[in-house]
Amino acid sequence: MTPGEVRQGPNLAGVYGRKAGTVPGFKYSAGFADADWTWDEAHLDPYLANPQSVIKGGVMGYRQAKPDVRQSIIAYLKEQQ
Ligand code: HEM
Repeated sequence: MTPGEVRQGPNLAGVYGRKAGTVPGFKYSAGFADADWTWDEAHLDPYLANPQSVIKGGVMGYRQAKPDVRQSIIAYLKEQQ
């Protein structure tokens, strides 16, 4: 991708409990090749705080610094599973 480009992310429906990097047809950054976990609280919280701390070279531009807001987002995703 072009540096600085804002790219839409993969569909998040059912992401809680799904193996990372597995939405069919979505072209993830290379770091997802090593992502051998399913998305749960323990993985989503640091990912939302700083995606590149979890996925080396990842391209998600969204960051949420507030722990309480991350908790609300994770609770929402959990509800949608
Ligand atoms: C509350 C907001 C958001 C949440 C909870 C969220 C969550 C996630 C999660 C869990 C993944 C990994 C999905 C998977 O393994 O299938 C992901 C990937 C991604 N997201 Fe987000 N995201 C959010 C906002 C955004 C926004 C605003 C953008 C861009 C405008 C974005 C762009 C991306 C991209 C490009 C990827 C793929 C990253 C890569 O290939 O390295 N996300 N997001």
